[in-house]
Amino acid sequence: MGKKLLLKNAHIEGIRYFETYRKHGGYEAAEKALKMKPEEILEEVKTSGLRGRGGAGFPTGMKWSFLAKPEGVPRHLVVNADESEPGTFKDRYLMEFLPHLLIEGMLISSYTLGSNTSYIYIRGEYSWIPDILEEAIDEAKAAGFLGKNILGTGFDLEIYVQRGAGAYICGEETALLESLEGRRGNPRLKPPFPAVKGLWERPTVVNNVESIAAVVPIIEIGGAEYAKIGVGRSTGTKLISACGNINKPGVYEIDMTITVEEFIYSDEYCGGIPNGKKLKACIPGGSSVPIVPANLLLKTINGEPRYMNYESLADGGFATGTMMGSGGFIVLDEDQCVVNHTMTLARFYNHESCGQCTPCREGTGWMYKILKKIEKGEGKMEDIDLLWDIQRKIEGNTICPLGDAAAWPVAAAIRHFRDEFEWHVNNPELSQTQNYGIANYADPIPAVSNS
Ligand SMILES: Cc1cc2nc3c(=O)[nH]c(=O)nc-3n(C[C@H](O)[C@H](O)[C@H](O)COP(=O)(O)O)c2cc1C
Repeated sequence: MGKKLLLKNAHIEGIRYFETYRKHGGYEAAEKALKMKPEEILEEVKTSGLRGRGGAGFPTGMKWSFLAKPEGVPRHLVVNADESEPGTFKDRYLMEFLPHLLIEGMLISSYTLGSNTSYIYIRGEYSWIPDILEEAIDEAKAAGFLGKNILGTGFDLEIYVQRGAGAYICGEETALLESLEGRRGNPRLKPPFPAVKGLWERPTVVNNVESIAAVVPIIEIGGAEYAKIGVGRSTGTKLISACGNINKPGVYEIDMTITVEEFIYSDEYCGGIPNGKKLKACIPGGSSVPIVPANLLLKTINGEPRYMNYESLADGGFATGTMMGSGGFIVLDEDQCVVNHTMTLARFYNHESCGQCTPCREGTGWMYKILKKIEKGEGKMEDIDLLWDIQRKIEGNTICPLGDAAAWPVAAAIRHFRDEFEWHVNNPELSQTQNYGIANYADPIPAVSNS
């Protein structure tokens, strides 16, 4: 049984409510933290090795230490609950079932950063969750853990929940800040980074829901103990939202020492692939990270087992590896068609591009159109190369990484599954009625053990 830090009490009935949360040790970490100096808490977070759980994996303690502290200027903590990356639904679970864990994490983090007004920016589609969060905020306030002079320390904190209007781009931290300020969510040019000029030009830290929730166990057990869980620079535990062709989709807390094979096939986690089908491929970190075929998913290019952590998943770079990303783990069995799948993602990124940067605005549309043509059996061989060329011209050429997020899935699909693209070109009639996976059922994907 893997170590549980965030979800250890998730099974307790009523844990969503203050009274039950408190009865099971809730807000004890906050009480402990409010007796410490902010610099001491910052040291604990640095020592813990916690890396941002929103996708990029940037060290949280280091980000906090960049926060500018000009005299007399308020600072803010903004929690990124936009969670719009297809395949990622772990923050939803935390907010829905453990809202007080997030609020306690925000209290500790706000105290450390010196933010008296902190925000949760939540995606519009999570329409029922703001009420849960606001109820928890009211409960925490009534119990003296929010509001004025918290626990007699002189520290004041208000937390506001802001609903987004349903745009993936508003998960990008500067687009989020624009939206929070009441404007269209277009990413800002950086620098300046939010730590210097963020919300209303004030120093701001933007962190993912899970990153902030993780501050609670860090204070509970201490940064050094937290750092002992996991391996290398992948410390602590990580929430993984698993979906696709698996027997047990859901949100799992893993310590990052388990292998990908164990995660997919063991009953403790995904429970294997339904109907005895073979594993074809996986997108382990949310839709924007590169897809990897089964043989490279379970083993690195050197034949080492692949582990569920930042370093191992990225081993080999994008040529043979992928990324941990936000932990949205999407499994594809042998019947799935990678071209169809990539086209669906391209449609999403095209729809969600904010349109500021030409390579992203135009390129995502071109990629979708070409993929649609190939998928329908109307493509030519040159279209595959054109597609490759377009994604190359998007990556790295935009204000924000949405362009990269749109380019990487296309690049990885062509890199690893070019034969499927060619099959669509060579079999125009078949590709209108069947998908590649089913049509090639007798000759499935690169060999890999199902054990
Ligand atoms: C297009 C786009 C969407 C993003 N969506 C999210 C999101 O939904 N949630 C999130 O925490 N980070 C998201 N990010 C990353 C944020 O910009 C930022 O890096 C993150 O909130 C920082 O928090 P962390 O350091 O705790 O991971 C997104 C980035 C991009 C480019």
